Amino acid sequence: MRLKLIQVGLGNHGQGVGEHFVLASRDFAYAGLVDINRSAVTEYARKNKLPESLCYTDHEQAFREADADAVFISAFSPVHYEIAKSALEHKLHVLIEKPFVLSLEEAEELNSLAARNRLNVMVNQNYRYFATVIALKQTLQSANLGRLSFVQSEFFYGHEGKPYQKTMDNYVLLEMSVHHVDMIRFLLDSDIAQVTGKTWNTPGSGYAGDPHVHAVYQTESGVNVFYLGSLLAKGAATPWEGAWIFQFEGGAVHLDDLGDGYGVYIADGRTKSRIGFQAQELGGIHGVLAEFAASIREQREPKISGADNMRTLAALLATAESSKQGKAIRLIPEG
Ligand SMILES: NC(=O)c1ccc[n+]([C@@H]2O[C@H](COP(=O)([O-])OP(=O)(O)OC[C@H]3O[C@@H](n4cnc5c(N)ncnc54)[C@H](O)[C@@H]3O)[C@@H](O)[C@H]2O)c1
Repeated sequence: MRLKLIQVGLGNHGQGVGEHFVLASRDFAYAGLVDINRSAVTEYARKNKLPESLCYTDHEQAFREADADAVFISAFSPVHYEIAKSALEHKLHVLIEKPFVLSLEEAEELNSLAARNRLNVMVNQNYRYFATVIALKQTLQSANLGRLSFVQSEFFYGHEGKPYQKTMDNYVLLEMSVHHVDMIRFLLDSDIAQVTGKTWNTPGSGYAGDPHVHAVYQTESGVNVFYLGSLLAKGAATPWEGAWIFQFEGGAVHLDDLGDGYGVYIADGRTKSRIGFQAQELGGIHGVLAEFAASIREQREPKISGADNMRTLAALLATAESSKQGKAIRLIPEG
């Protein structure tokens, strides 16, 4: 039996995810569609031959009236908290787009509410399910190159921000670096213990929050990750996952294009070889939806739960704080 899902937020990303992933899912069937913009929701239903009776413009009404098990929140980031809170109050499991919410207090409140009601909260950190990222993690675990000395990660993209992105605080951190910082935690199986960061703006950019960031993330396992990211970059863009180098004693693992296309490579001073990998059967958001459904059916915490994701959010907000204070911010006490 498919689980019944209400999707809230049918803008650019919401419609794309709906069409390519939710409608293709063996685990979910729509119980409702919500967007405050009536034409967005009715147009989405019409295009995909879904009944108009599924359409709402008010999430509270949908949560009250539709018979559902879960909600997928793909509305824009500043309303994630209020919609998730309402969903949990209506006893619905929640899958929520990144960034989970905008503050640790909001995350804490939602996680406690979910725990009290025995409901699942999962955050769509879909990059963990990319074939490239899975291949990179497998290579890091099997490469046998000795001790890891340090990591470098770069991301550049000239993004035309949405109106909500132009006014939000911590723009690049919460909208983009959220993927890369979550990748650090996932790839190294270690939380961020300390961050020294700087974010900045380009005068006249049109963004209230900084679009550029440089940070050093030190993991609990003692590895330094040097990260540079920009959503307002001119020139060549990196792929969404970014370009990464893991420097080991005996060689390096790259996620980049070292001449044979973007992918995972093992290299030393003399040779480089590209690691072949297969497309994932449940890659990207297919994997996220499958894990969310399995966690509901098996009554267990999902991978990338709200509690897990709070540690990614904490590292991002600490980056902004470090930039303001001009000093390192410790997230996990030493020793
Ligand atoms: N995981 C990823 O790779 C990825 C990629 C792109 C965007 N996103 C995230 O998806 C979210 C949406 O991004 P987008 O690009 O679609 O933005 P968008 O501005 O194109 O669309 C947002 C939609 O939310 C709707 N909305 C706003 N408030 C609402 C409310 N209270 N109830 C119902 N609907 C409401 C708007 O009407 C709009 O249709 C953001 O949080 C963004 O960070 C994630």
